[in-house]
Amino acid sequence: METLLYEQLAGELAGLIAGGVLACGERLPSVRRLSRDRRLSVSTVVQALRQLEDRGLVEARPQSGYYVRRAVARHAEPELRSPPESAMPVDISQRLVRVMQAGNRPGVAPLGAALPAYELLPLAALHRLYAGVARRHPALLASVSHLAMDDSALVRQLVRRSLAWGGPLAADEFVITNSCTEALGLCLRTVTRPGDTVAVESPAYYLMLQLLETLGLKALEIPTDPRTGLSVEALDLATRSSQVKACLLVSNGSNPLGCVMPDDNKRRLAELMASRGVAVIEDDIYGDLHPGSERPWPIKAFDRAGNVMLCASFSKSLSPALRVGYVAAGRYRPAVALQKTITSGATNPITQRVLAEYLESGAYERHLRRLRRAYQGQVEAMRLAVSRYFPAATRIAQPQCGFVLWVELPKEIDTMALFGEAIAGQLAYMPGELFSASGMYGNCLRLNCGNPHTPAIEDAVRRLGMIFSAGQIK
Ligand SMILES: Cc1ncc(COP(=O)(O)O)c(C=O)c1O
Repeated sequence: METLLYEQLAGELAGLIAGGVLACGERLPSVRRLSRDRRLSVSTVVQALRQLEDRGLVEARPQSGYYVRRAVARHAEPELRSPPESAMPVDISQRLVRVMQAGNRPGVAPLGAALPAYELLPLAALHRLYAGVARRHPALLASVSHLAMDDSALVRQLVRRSLAWGGPLAADEFVITNSCTEALGLCLRTVTRPGDTVAVESPAYYLMLQLLETLGLKALEIPTDPRTGLSVEALDLATRSSQVKACLLVSNGSNPLGCVMPDDNKRRLAELMASRGVAVIEDDIYGDLHPGSERPWPIKAFDRAGNVMLCASFSKSLSPALRVGYVAAGRYRPAVALQKTITSGATNPITQRVLAEYLESGAYERHLRRLRRAYQGQVEAMRLAVSRYFPAATRIAQPQCGFVLWVELPKEIDTMALFGEAIAGQLAYMPGELFSASGMYGNCLRLNCGNPHTPAIEDAVRRLGMIFSAGQIK
């Protein structure tokens, strides 16, 4: 489904209204100004404003322009919750697969898996680069080595990018992987054995929990503040008494909460884990998408002991289909590289070079600027829609980074129990119980905001709201 330019602009403006950047009663920039600033035709801008008018967000005043119509209802944010204090085995895979398969059927509104819309990705540039690289470097298609698995041009680009991560990191810290998920799995296999315990955020990204499950590891859920992320105090207490082998977390744009840990917490976590001999596996896949003026540093920036393994990929920023990620593995690098050799060997050499050339061209930074704005607008538009259609006592997260939205419904609503009804209506979401080994968060859900906020998405949120409101009454 292709999103039209006017729908994209309407989504962005709706986001600004939801976020309070354009306040109630305020005049929107004029049609001519929007057309000039956004390099869009006047008719596209007018169409976008009409759509906002239809959605009740703005009103046209004769001879004067468009004005924001009403204040967005302010919803409380989810509160810090207390998970069980002991580690437990994970058993979510079967439910997760069923939910993902159902959400992936054609025609289902894409509010489940955290995937970006095609039209936000620089696919034409990547197509050109694939053709060019294959033509200019035919040898890349013909051979691959277990001895030199990583494209040095790509590693050089990552080292350059690491200047913005509080770096620079050394080239020989990196291992290029097939995706972030592979990087996380390699790191876990390097520092754990079946039966070991890993500290995770609560709520935690379900694929991380699934990795623990398949590797026979136990999850120790650490309370996680919806604003400031994993509680370092709670981690301190938990690692005093129990044998924890690793701490696995998303420090910038946690999935599902969207929170960013303050630098001081990152520093304390890095020092604490090094002093306790607990390896840190950090997933920074959303760091580049932070909409603020400065990219937040990862925990790795505060690592003096080589104890932090920093993992990421280009799945959320360029395309999930590239399947290229990396880990800067500190002192664990040789062991992680060995795991990579025996798991999948080298990552596709053509794709590595395509990425290297894309990064080198400077196009990535330009693309990121547009993408951050789009994601921010989409998340805000989704918050607005949820606040309008979901039951009154709903709590809505205020993500600082990324493009997922965590929503907490009144206690009596069971989002897994209602999932079948939603799917029957061609609506997907990720039920909250999948974000925890202990099954807490049964009244929560995560929504994907990776798509421009079109009328079809707005309608999907409205229909979800009806299902949850009816679920509350039953
Ligand atoms: C925190 C986090 N890590 C990793 C991934 C998966 O990344 P990849 O496709 O590179 O494996 C996701 C995707 O949703 C994610 O949210």
